[in-house]
Amino acid sequence: MKLLDAAPVLVTFLCISDAFGLETSTQPTSIGLIPNTSIIRRDSSLMLNGERWTISGANVYWLGLDENVIPPSGQPFYAPLKASYPTFGRITEIMNTLQIMGATTIRGHTLGISAGNPLSVMPELGVVNEQAFDTMDWAIYEARRHGLRIFAPLIDNYDYYHGGKYTFLRWAGFDLNGYNPTNPEVMQFYTNQTIINDFKNYIKVILTHANQFTGLTYAEDPTIFAYETGNELGGPIFGDMWVPNEWTEQIASYIKELAPTKLVIDGTYGVNATHLSIPTIDIFSNHFYPPDITKLQSDISLVQSVNKAYIAGEYDWTGNIASAPPLPEFFSSIEASPVVSGDLFWSLFMHDVPNCSIYVNHTDGETLQYGNPENTVHTNTQISEIRQHLFRMRGWNVSSYLPPVPCPGH
Ligand SMILES: *[C@@H]1O[C@H](CO)[C@@H](O)[C@H](O)[C@H]1NC(C)=O
Ligand SMILES: *[C@@H]1O[C@H](CO)[C@@H](O)[C@H](O)[C@H]1NC(C)=O
Ligand SMILES: *[C@@H]1O[C@H](CO)[C@@H](O)[C@H](O)[C@H]1NC(C)=O
Ligand SMILES: *[C@@H]1O[C@H](CO)[C@@H](O)[C@H](O)[C@H]1NC(C)=O
Ligand SMILES: *[C@@H]1O[C@H](CO)[C@@H](O)[C@H](O)[C@H]1NC(C)=O
Ligand SMILES: *[C@@H]1O[C@H](CO)[C@@H](O)[C@H](O)[C@H]1NC(C)=O
Repeated sequence: MKLLDAAPVLVTFLCISDAFGLETSTQPTSIGLIPNTSIIRRDSSLMLNGERWTISGANVYWLGLDENVIPPSGQPFYAPLKASYPTFGRITEIMNTLQIMGATTIRGHTLGISAGNPLSVMPELGVVNEQAFDTMDWAIYEARRHGLRIFAPLIDNYDYYHGGKYTFLRWAGFDLNGYNPTNPEVMQFYTNQTIINDFKNYIKVILTHANQFTGLTYAEDPTIFAYETGNELGGPIFGDMWVPNEWTEQIASYIKELAPTKLVIDGTYGVNATHLSIPTIDIFSNHFYPPDITKLQSDISLVQSVNKAYIAGEYDWTGNIASAPPLPEFFSSIEASPVVSGDLFWSLFMHDVPNCSIYVNHTDGETLQYGNPENTVHTNTQISEIRQHLFRMRGWNVSSYLPPVPCPGH
């Protein structure tokens, strides 16, 4: 057992990098702990330099564009959707926090989904707003510097501030305002080749963008090891998993055409058995509100039949639903299965940097604020269980202690 908890922050940082299996000569380089050639590959498990690698960490959906902070006047702010860019300090604090928590990976919606409002990458169809890349570039650079990997969904099933399939439907003249799940016209997003081509052009804008801090395009940078075809995708009825195979195949192939070393995650909400045979899909996933071991085992049976990888892409970490199994039981099932390549809790927020005296809160009741002195004993116990699990996923044992994370003051 390695005693990370007693080590000062700098030593912890270097020790953690060892666990990524990097060569000594590659750490640290001027652009961080992940060398340009450090590619995650898939057999039935995910592999890095010949060893099993796991996706474990957090959802941090706001790294590109946020909706939870009203910035000082004069800063970009789109009031109707409360959209604003996070400060660079907030992004850096997230990376420091996830490193201390033992994570390997961030799932970041707004590092892939950014359409339909003036602060988006694509405010209007075919129009590109370069400013939107500043926070995305910084998040990817900072992740790399901290030895963390990223994956991002490319479209959302819903109609939130960052955009989603309704944005593309409206651009094509389908006047579906808001989340309109019972209207069969939503299927046009998957079936209408005009809309598919619009979406592919959007994907191209994202993947061919060159990061101002690393010089690498998003397609080239191995920090982003995968893209997900979308977030919680389905058809007209919530949870119906009705995402046509042809669409999934076409989008996954296009991602690999632009970025041959990326893995592709099926963004369908749940494992649709008819998708198991799609050759360009590497990873299947499901979301857990609340954790559910029966559902997990059933997904595992499906995915192991085709020798592909599987993740719990989101789960409710709070333990507030009495009928759900305690987190350690859910984690044991994950750790016991070679099919499960990892899991990511929903969702992480830290301070309102540069103001290090307040934490940002999101109103869904699932905000994890590491180190908040106002956390209850129950909350800190949950956070500690997550941290121990994240380290165990990498073969390390740590104690229940929660080491402090410094808040960057600017
Ligand atoms: C971690 O703890 C488990 C359970 O006590 C033990 O089986 C395992 O060998 C330990 N691993 C390391 C790397 O110390
Ligand atoms: C697909 O969308 C285009 C663009 O809005 C529209 O002109 C066309 O009629 C749609 N195709 C079908 C089959 O509905
Ligand atoms: C990684 O790629 C970038 C952009 O091409 C380049 O500037 C940098 O020198 C490369 N780093 C290494 C270690 O090869
Ligand atoms: C799975 O996808 C297929 C193909 O799009 C679709 O027909 C089916 O309704 C989906 N849902 C389930 C539960 O199989
Ligand atoms: C930080 O936020 C708190 C609470 O809103 C406020 O009282 C304090 O003045 C802020 N500090 C700075 C430096 O803005
Ligand atoms: C955060 O928001 C949730 C949901 O609105 C609320 O229950 C909780 O009290 C808030 N926490 C803080 C610290 O404001």
